[in-house]
Amino acid sequence: MCGIVGYVGDSNAYDILIKGLHRLEYRGYDSAGVALINADGKLNVYKAIGKVSNLESFCTEKDVKGGTGIAHTRWATHGEPSDCNAHPHFSEDGEIALVHNGTIENYKVLKDALIENGCKFVSETDTEVLVQLIEYIKKHTKCPLLDAVREALRQVIGAYAIAVIDKNNPDTIIAARKSSPLVIGIGNNEMFIGSDATPIVEYTKEVVYLNDNEIAVVSKNAPLKIINLDNEEAKIDVRSLELSISQLEKGGYPHFMLKEIFEQHATLRDCIRGRVIDGGRNVIVSGVMDSKEKFLNAKRIIIVACGTSWHAALIGKYLFQDMCRIPVEVEYASEFRYSNPVIDERDLVIAISQSGETADTLAAIQMAREAGAYVYGISNVVGSSIPRNTDAGTYIHVGPEIGVASTKAFTGQVMVQTLIAMAIAELKGTMPKEKLVEIGQEILKIPEYVKQTLKLNDQIERLSLIFTYAHNFLYLGRGYSYPVALEGALKLKEISYIHAEGYPAAEMKHGPIALIDAEMPTVIIAPNDHLYEKIVSNVQQVKARHGSVIAIVTEGDKEIRNLADHVIEVPAVPECLTPIITSIPLQLLSYYIAVNKGKNVDMPRNLAKSVTVE
Ligand code: G6P
Repeated sequence: MCGIVGYVGDSNAYDILIKGLHRLEYRGYDSAGVALINADGKLNVYKAIGKVSNLESFCTEKDVKGGTGIAHTRWATHGEPSDCNAHPHFSEDGEIALVHNGTIENYKVLKDALIENGCKFVSETDTEVLVQLIEYIKKHTKCPLLDAVREALRQVIGAYAIAVIDKNNPDTIIAARKSSPLVIGIGNNEMFIGSDATPIVEYTKEVVYLNDNEIAVVSKNAPLKIINLDNEEAKIDVRSLELSISQLEKGGYPHFMLKEIFEQHATLRDCIRGRVIDGGRNVIVSGVMDSKEKFLNAKRIIIVACGTSWHAALIGKYLFQDMCRIPVEVEYASEFRYSNPVIDERDLVIAISQSGETADTLAAIQMAREAGAYVYGISNVVGSSIPRNTDAGTYIHVGPEIGVASTKAFTGQVMVQTLIAMAIAELKGTMPKEKLVEIGQEILKIPEYVKQTLKLNDQIERLSLIFTYAHNFLYLGRGYSYPVALEGALKLKEISYIHAEGYPAAEMKHGPIALIDAEMPTVIIAPNDHLYEKIVSNVQQVKARHGSVIAIVTEGDKEIRNLADHVIEVPAVPECLTPIITSIPLQLLSYYIAVNKGKNVDMPRNLAKSVTVE
């Protein structure tokens, strides 16, 4: 969702900001803009609907000089995507410019009050209220920009990350956050701001993650200063970035999504490293060790997540129930937070989020903590909000995921949950040690199994040509493969815009079977697990209605091979590890179908990578 980048220093801000906006494109957006203060102290604001490249074209032959600037990619919430609604917004007197990520919930009340006092608005956004309010306070109280920002934020209800510049104070950016992420990069006589570290990593490894209700004074020649809304100075915690530029490049692949699919043998190796030890005999997850009592005493686990992470959470339900014999509930964070949930201190809430910034998941965490539950986070982005707002947790360590359609994060999330479940099972004694060792040994071979699975690439690319123009797909699976079916359908929907439905295979009889005909392909995930014979009947039911079946089966499969129209064979692994392997051909299938259709695979329409508004 919206992305912010800011620069103050001696270099030309425009070049750094445009590059930064390109780095933030993956978050999803529909317009972009930049505000610059030039050497004569003039504030120039340029905006354009559409891609960052449109903004660049618009800026050709414009004055883009200046060492201070802020820029933004907007994902529309209040007001349609348009040049006018794009950020930065500026004050009526043209002195102050502001970019914002988040939602101002009480903007209408503030806007009406400002209009009554003579302010004129030009956009339909909630954001413009902020910049007009800042100007109003600054003018009427004759206070410096920092005080005006602080006072304005005290009046605001909602979520925000903002960056503000004032042409009267050209060497400073004021930045603030509440519930939306903001990172400050510290350079040599230059400073950077980003919604995440991707626009910053090229210039510095030293960063400060702003906390909620903090305001930063980011200046060229003065040390960073952070205050809270009560004007008390806050501690500055400088962290070192563990991110490299090569991780943000496509590395020779046509799309980030394909690169990320193909990286999975390595990302899973990183995810397992140091956690499965002694040749698979032991599993150590430090977050679990730190929370041992909480896991041992948990009467219930509630897993909250959104999107693909929610599908990973559903697999977690099977894992925790099977291995640890703890009852598990899986909730969409957005539903959980408004469902008046019954939670207490014996509940263990696990929040799963790739970005670590999903607004609904963050809100669910806060609610669970207020109710006394212990909250454990599973995230990918180091330093993001979810790991900083949970009691303990585990990183999946799969590296930056840029493609909007999540792939390597999904397999990492499933892997981490498997390790956590094994660690708890060992502590609780709910699984025989030999069985745990057997799974541990197989986990160490997972990178190799993934490599073998990726060799299916050419077969799947060819297969995709047959199904590119299908209008509907059905994905079926049972047990551990049911969430894989949901995830396979989501992948296809997200990037190819083909309607696809994931269903528990046996439930097909209660509805989707009515849709089956020769026109609608059914993808059946049927590894050789304890439900195999059951799913064979489901394949027969589809075939009896002349449906076309693509089956994901285990190598050496005999029965389904004779029934299905197309068979994709994956390596044999223990049942609990099948989702990691069977999801890969589905990622490839949706990727190639979307490519065949000429869709923008990495940045599908309307979607955002990091959903920072509810
Ligand atoms: C968006 C992304 C999905 C992601 C979901 C949850 O919809 O496009 O890929 O699964 O948000 O995001 P999270 O970062 O919390 O896993």
